[in-house]
Amino acid sequence: MERLQKILAQANIASRRKSEEIILEGRVKVNGVIVKELGFKVSKSDQIEVDGKAIERAEHLYFLLNKPTGYVSTTSDEKNRKTVLDLLTEADRQTRLYPVGRLDFDTAGLLLLTNDGDFTKRMTHPEHEVEKEYLARLEGIVIRKKIVQLRKGVIIDKDYLAVPKEVRLLELDKAHQSTLISITLAEGKNKQVRKMCEAIGHPVKKLTRVRYDFLTLEGVERGTYRPLKIHEVKKLYANSAPKN
Ligand code: URA
Repeated sequence: MERLQKILAQANIASRRKSEEIILEGRVKVNGVIVKELGFKVSKSDQIEVDGKAIERAEHLYFLLNKPTGYVSTTSDEKNRKTVLDLLTEADRQTRLYPVGRLDFDTAGLLLLTNDGDFTKRMTHPEHEVEKEYLARLEGIVIRKKIVQLRKGVIIDKDYLAVPKEVRLLELDKAHQSTLISITLAEGKNKQVRKMCEAIGHPVKKLTRVRYDFLTLEGVERGTYRPLKIHEVKKLYANSAPKN
């Protein structure tokens, strides 16, 4: 059940504020009956009319995208670069989707897209942000001491102590002088992984987000996407419940 003014706003009738006025003016009918009550709740099956015209209910949509590098995760770009919306079908592009948080232009991997503002707020709330795991290929051979340092936390942005949830050393590539690590964060400061690795003297060569809470890229090729299942959306909500 959702509040009537929220449904009207989602259906692009007007802003939530303006929708409240429209309701108070007696212009809205639910199942043929005028409703002037602002807190009135409606279900999916209720028929809503504004000025005698049935509204088209906007559905909430949730997608899991495997972002390639070379795309910005915004809905438009002032430098005219490709955006993640360019990876969607024409029909899906009409549904006002936008990314939940950001991945850098040069970062690949798991990015959620939605048109549900409450969901986005919930996923990116600093106090209960969900876990995100990255595979990072770093320049040079990272010695154990540096991994320990990274695990304990490093200073980024001059005075912020960034502490990861987990860091695993996956591969030392002597031939190419690089190191592969997995790093899991429960926060999302701008370019956080890159800055943290820079802080231990090993810049990131390649970065991929491989997990978002329990979601992985399994079955989703680079540059493609799939809808989330209802139970997946519910689980994301459950796992990001505010801790009191
Ligand atoms: N950390 C980064 O540095 N970049 C990203 O795109 C995501 C996390």
